[in-house]
Amino acid sequence: MRYKPLSAATYREHRARFRQAMEKGGLAVFHSNDIMPTSADGTMPFHQAADLFYLTGVDQEETALIIFPDAFDPKDREILFVRETSELIAIWEGAKLSKKEATELTGIANVQWYGTLDATLKRLLPEAAHLYLNSNEHLRQSNEVETREQRLNKALMARYPLHGVKRSAPIMHRIRSRKTQEEIQQIQNAINITGKAFRRILQFTKPGVMEYEIEAEATHEFLRNGSRGHAYTPIVGSGYNACVLHYITNDSECKDGDVILIDLGCEYGGYASDMTRSIPVNGTFTPRQRDVYNAVLRVQKEATKLLMPGTYLNDYHKKVGELMEKELIGLGLLDKDAVAQQDPEKPLYKKYFMHGTSHFLGLDVHDVGLWTEPIEENMVFTVEPGIYIPEEKLGIRIENNIVVHKDGPIDLFKDIPREVEEIEALMAGARKKAKA
Ligand code: GLY
Ligand code: MN
Ligand code: MN
Repeated sequence: MRYKPLSAATYREHRARFRQAMEKGGLAVFHSNDIMPTSADGTMPFHQAADLFYLTGVDQEETALIIFPDAFDPKDREILFVRETSELIAIWEGAKLSKKEATELTGIANVQWYGTLDATLKRLLPEAAHLYLNSNEHLRQSNEVETREQRLNKALMARYPLHGVKRSAPIMHRIRSRKTQEEIQQIQNAINITGKAFRRILQFTKPGVMEYEIEAEATHEFLRNGSRGHAYTPIVGSGYNACVLHYITNDSECKDGDVILIDLGCEYGGYASDMTRSIPVNGTFTPRQRDVYNAVLRVQKEATKLLMPGTYLNDYHKKVGELMEKELIGLGLLDKDAVAQQDPEKPLYKKYFMHGTSHFLGLDVHDVGLWTEPIEENMVFTVEPGIYIPEEKLGIRIENNIVVHKDGPIDLFKDIPREVEEIEALMAGARKKAKA
């Protein structure tokens, strides 16, 4: 295996959290993702359904989990279904989990072959009061492609139309947002690799390199450290490109005098890291670039301090907006009097800072969580303010990942360079080495 999974004890803890939130008599079913086709006989790399992965650690297709805490027979209270292995499958695709390995990984004693899932549901559903089905309730989910889960949910609801169906998603959003210690460590592992990639990029970058070459440096560092690659499509945008928020073509030359915005992070063991750094192509910021950079950095540092248990994300985003407003006035981008008279529904700072400051981070880069409840200890967030000035061909964002803690946020990026002086010194060191 490329990565060290979490312990069986942690997956047990995750399932216990789900169980505790279920109503009496509930039976929950979770499904893996499909292997998605491309064309002809091509497939995309398999990406496990995050909820099933969170509850079991199983990273294989054709996997299902039943949680039925009030089942009459204790053996039926937790059943894992994995794809049946055979010599043929082992030769073509490599070994799949045996039942014994599946138990060791997940801590689930009762492991069955996937082909028996339907018969087991037929046997158990008459005993269940409600059927818990899962669905993607992410605020920004795209619904165009039917997932395996949606397909199998439809079939189950058609077959058992009189069972009251309950939603697993709100429970999953709640329990996944409060990370267990091993999850935080796995996110830190991902961040450490991303940090190595950033140091490599600082050594590599100089005028004339292509944005995709910087992406390639990161990809190389990710793969050689046991990551399966980028946790999301990387953004490497130099000059004006940094002002295009979802710029992913990464196909321009990095020019002397420009700043490059680099938003990339690896996955490790299924967990995402999410970093943004903005660096000068030639190794030295101009005074203006430095001023804008330090304005963003001050907002980031102050915003981080606001992420204390009990904070509402709405209030937090408003306060960060005020911090940004002050900085934009200082930079001469906003007029103080105009700000004093602005429509509070349409604050002027949004012209230069048009995205949110923080999102939940975990198995998904834009992880699930409850946006309307106060934040709690052990939630992991990004902090990513930015200032984008297209007329100056300058976009700067700085993004770290933090853990909410009662004594103040824990910065998981503390070893990743972020100060102007550190970045310039590391880039100057690389230039000196290249000349020697
Ligand atoms: N890389 C995606 C984000 O920063 O939210
Ligand atoms: Mn982010
Ligand atoms: Mn990012």
